[in-house]
Amino acid sequence: MQPENTLALPVGVTLDRFIKSQQDAFPYATGELSQLLRDIALASKIINREINRAGLNNITGALGRDNVQGEAQQKLDIIANIRFIRALVNGGQVVGILSEEEDEIIQTNNLNAKYVVAMDPLDGSSNIDVNVSIGTIFSIYRRISPIGTPAIQADFMQGGRCQIAAGYILYGSSTIMVYTTGKGVNGFTYENSLGEYFLSHADMKIPKTGKIYSVNEAYFNEFPNYIKEFIETMRQQSDCMARYIGSLVGDFHRNLLKGGIYLYPPTRKSENGKLRLLYECYPLALVLEQAGGKACDGQKSVLDIAPQQIHQRSIVYLGSEDLVGDLAKRIKNYNKLIISQLESV
Ligand code: F6P
Repeated sequence: MQPENTLALPVGVTLDRFIKSQQDAFPYATGELSQLLRDIALASKIINREINRAGLNNITGALGRDNVQGEAQQKLDIIANIRFIRALVNGGQVVGILSEEEDEIIQTNNLNAKYVVAMDPLDGSSNIDVNVSIGTIFSIYRRISPIGTPAIQADFMQGGRCQIAAGYILYGSSTIMVYTTGKGVNGFTYENSLGEYFLSHADMKIPKTGKIYSVNEAYFNEFPNYIKEFIETMRQQSDCMARYIGSLVGDFHRNLLKGGIYLYPPTRKSENGKLRLLYECYPLALVLEQAGGKACDGQKSVLDIAPQQIHQRSIVYLGSEDLVGDLAKRIKNYNKLIISQLESV
């Protein structure tokens, strides 16, 4: 006879239970951050639903206006933005929101809330209409403005090391939420029929090295020589692979699991890189460092870049320790060479 315990297998640890168990480990935790993480998860479930039926209800395609970055906003960009803002306003734990889709910070009127959130509600929008993976990225800070007052820009400009939590949701072949509160990284896969996230990737670690490089090679001729040389070296390894979806969260998640490097170097069009520091680079850098990887802009760790503007861009290299380390060394040597050439003029 089949043993009873194999008839009904356990479903595992839900995101809610996991958050609660982490909260219980801190005797003075009030549960506000836990509630905030639940609000983000709720918004992501709604977005997941919208994305899954996107071809059927006239929500694909461009809206006909640009965002603050001058990029065409897709209808789903706006829908995700509204969903997140609504969930965070109603959840009550956030006083201000910085979104890729909005020029200014958004005041939630939850004046007594402790936290602010910077987010890219739906990244990789060019992939929306063609059923390719897209993602949400978020970063959480404890406000520095006084409780009882509206949020201020400085709440969002504390620097990457001040993030108290960060993560992403990848709407891919399955939907997964990956986040850190500074004590390792955990991933939760969405179980559609139950409407719950379950712990599927506990204590995630990126392999120390990897075989994958992810970069838009269409810009190869515009890259600085050290990037060209780095890519050439990767290409020369027989088992090396180029993988680039053009959807940051998807490229990042694959490399986190398999080992590799994501590069967005300076190009003619984007001298300072393309990705946004506060709601793309910082949160992914925190996840990466917590998972044992490295994130740098060629000069310093991404988390140590001082923010100047809320929507600023940054050059970024994200990935396995050995690969990012090797690239950083090349950039250092290149800079030394330039300085010695200048000195000898
Ligand atoms: O956030 C910008 C973004 O869409 C990322 O998701 C993606 O990695 C990158 O831009 C793609 O840029 P490009 O089309 O220049 O390669």
